[in-house]
Amino acid sequence: MKTDKIIIHEVGPRDGLQVEKTIVPLEEKILWINKVINSGIDIFQLGSFVNPKAVPQMADSDKLFAHYNISGNKPKNVILSGLVLNEKGLDRGMECGVEMFCMGVSASETHSQKNTRMTPSEALTRIIPMAKTALGAGKKVQVSVQSAFGCGFDGVIPKEKVLSIVKEYLAAGIKNVSLADTAGHAQPLQVEELFSSIKELDNEVELACHFHNTYGLGLANCYAALKAGVISFESAFGGLGGCPFTKLPAGNVSTEDLVHSLQRMGYRSDINLSSLLDTAKQVESFFNRELPGAVLKSGSIVRFKEGQ
Ligand code: COA
Ligand code: ZN
Repeated sequence: MKTDKIIIHEVGPRDGLQVEKTIVPLEEKILWINKVINSGIDIFQLGSFVNPKAVPQMADSDKLFAHYNISGNKPKNVILSGLVLNEKGLDRGMECGVEMFCMGVSASETHSQKNTRMTPSEALTRIIPMAKTALGAGKKVQVSVQSAFGCGFDGVIPKEKVLSIVKEYLAAGIKNVSLADTAGHAQPLQVEELFSSIKELDNEVELACHFHNTYGLGLANCYAALKAGVISFESAFGGLGGCPFTKLPAGNVSTEDLVHSLQRMGYRSDINLSSLLDTAKQVESFFNRELPGAVLKSGSIVRFKEGQ
């Protein structure tokens, strides 16, 4: 297994919150983010720059990024990422100093229309120039294929369809590619096969994964992705999350569960699991309901390092 570096990309403030009806005040988001930002996670997705009428929870993304990037509160060892799906979003992100842009195209015709009012091919013709603009401005860019493993509306998504989008990314020179299981339909053998096929297209590609727990397979899929050479893992505190435009939104892989399982396998012992758990507890008490995360309920069986 290739394990030189495993990157944890926390997407709690974005994917974790976008489906929640209770609007989280900016100050509360900052409290949560501050608790976890120095935990040793590598990338933190603070929000998305989409139409606030479509996703009201993300309306304060500009202010949130400005708090860190413009007001001088940016911690050193973490990259702050933001999701953008059109040019207006990219402009907004540039203005508040986003360092890493995540952008993507859904492989499902129906999900793509519901999510962005574009077909996958229309979206692709806009995303690729956006990615080039961001790269040209010295930003990090990660492009994704959403609904890559199946869709609640369209059912099976052919592997060829996903690979055809990935080929366009690679042909445009964009080498940081994420596959998102937006609907949570993925299973481990499929995950291993699809990521391995991308590696066969280009061995230099940097692969990222994003799984939802609709059918309880999130962590199993992460493990399959790890075996296939994926280095970056997207997850959300407490296991919150879900795309409001899928048929059945379900939580992301929980960051604490992911880190706990990696640490049990001997990876990423540098990450402060207790601060991740503290944050998830605070999020849980804000929403006043039990969150899906397993370690949150059962407690950690990883021996904490002294001082943690
Ligand atoms: N940020 C803020 N407002 C935006 C925007 C952006 N990135 N893109 C469009 N808008 C606004 C326009 O200003 C316009 O506003 P108005 O009605 O006040 O005039 C309105 O949205 C329609 O603009 P249009 O260019 O037709 O865009 P659209 O409605 O096709 O929007 C998306 C495209 C992708 C921005 C929109 O569909 C969206 O926000 N979808 C949510 C996707 C999402 O977050 N999914 C979950 C994560 S994958
Ligand atoms: Zn998601």
